[in-house]
Amino acid sequence: MKLKPLLLVNIGQLATLRYSTPGPRRGSSLSELGIIENAAVLCSGGKIVSVGTTKEALRDPWLKKNRKKITEIDCGGRVVLPGFVDSHTHPVFAQPRLVDFEKRISGANYEEIAEAGGGIRSSIDGVRKASKAELKGKVLTALHDLAKHGTTTVEAKSGYGLSLESELKSLEAIRAAARMWPGTVAPTFLGAHVVPPEFRGRSQKYVEIVCKEMMPAVAKRKLASFVDVFCDRGAFSAEETAQIFQAAEKHGLAVRAHMGQLSETRIAPFLKFRPASLDHMDHVNEADLPALAHSDVVATFVPGANYFLGLSRYPDARRLIEAGVAVAVATDYNPGSSPTFSMPMAMSLACTQMRMSPAEAIAATTINGAWALRLADRKGSVEAGKDADLAVFDVRDYREISYWFGVNRCVLTIVSGVASGQLPA
Ligand code: NIG
Ligand code: FE
Repeated sequence: MKLKPLLLVNIGQLATLRYSTPGPRRGSSLSELGIIENAAVLCSGGKIVSVGTTKEALRDPWLKKNRKKITEIDCGGRVVLPGFVDSHTHPVFAQPRLVDFEKRISGANYEEIAEAGGGIRSSIDGVRKASKAELKGKVLTALHDLAKHGTTTVEAKSGYGLSLESELKSLEAIRAAARMWPGTVAPTFLGAHVVPPEFRGRSQKYVEIVCKEMMPAVAKRKLASFVDVFCDRGAFSAEETAQIFQAAEKHGLAVRAHMGQLSETRIAPFLKFRPASLDHMDHVNEADLPALAHSDVVATFVPGANYFLGLSRYPDARRLIEAGVAVAVATDYNPGSSPTFSMPMAMSLACTQMRMSPAEAIAATTINGAWALRLADRKGSVEAGKDADLAVFDVRDYREISYWFGVNRCVLTIVSGVASGQLPA
């Protein structure tokens, strides 16, 4: 069946994020949303065809002639954004981690819980025992829940299997779920999430397996676009991270890393690997900022993790933005540190806890999220030629998207020109 073109009219505020300077947004360009009031967007064949005011759209001779052949949605003055690009999620797990949750409430911290056998390691068993079909089901449910909150592109990591077989199973589950979801998924191999218990005290041996057994198998099956490493105290060292990045380079896979969540690691030595993004960034050495600012590496904040781990300290977004570093914001959806599907919740935290402005939070979750996944040629802004991925919010002002918290104001998500959800009457 041929898809009918889709016309959105009467958009109160359309944040286009258009006319970007080359590369990811940084500094003052992070606040330039390219808002069109009373806007309209025409989509056809899964792409955005034209963007302008409703008045202009309704005067268009082609539209006048073909109005009956298109699906028209009256947005009733609501706000429309490019679909969110959630550039950091861990959706392949079997169970929520409720024991860790209660332990933390009683006073234990993330590292203490991990050392006592909880944390990431306590999700391994569930994934190893689960069938691929079960995991696919979990990932697909998560993708639908993310979409309900306005997300149309999702990075999805493996990383709770941590054996050749269960890492491949996790990535295959991501691939199978992605095929059943209309949005776009960027799969990431995170074999280096933690050292699994059977390699305790032998991290070098495990890194060797990640590089020489898992990565070639992942690359051969084309199961991942990126290789990720949790580079931190209690996970993998800077040297091990460099070793894994080198192997990824050999296999033609782009890299990204969890960096500076619990402790500081110097970033400069990693820039030669051109990571697409470095995520968390709670602890960053001042001396690394100029080189970072001169690169296209995106620093991705995941404040949902700080919130859920009950931390009072959040990444110093202002320091990075003022230094000219390109920043993104993502959910970090995972069972241990950030069980949320909501990009607006991450934006709310970025605003209230990290002093990002509501406009910056939008650029950080759309166009810069797209840069963090190297998908900015297709995603992250509402411009002719880009994928027709949009999100409609039941608010009148774009600032409300970060303002309301604990509620979902996204009422309609459009993926490749197909709408799902319903506008309130
Ligand atoms: O991004 N820090 C490492 N990985 C995840 C946590 C995963 C987990 O606790 O299950 C994160 O916060
Ligand atoms: Fe993470």
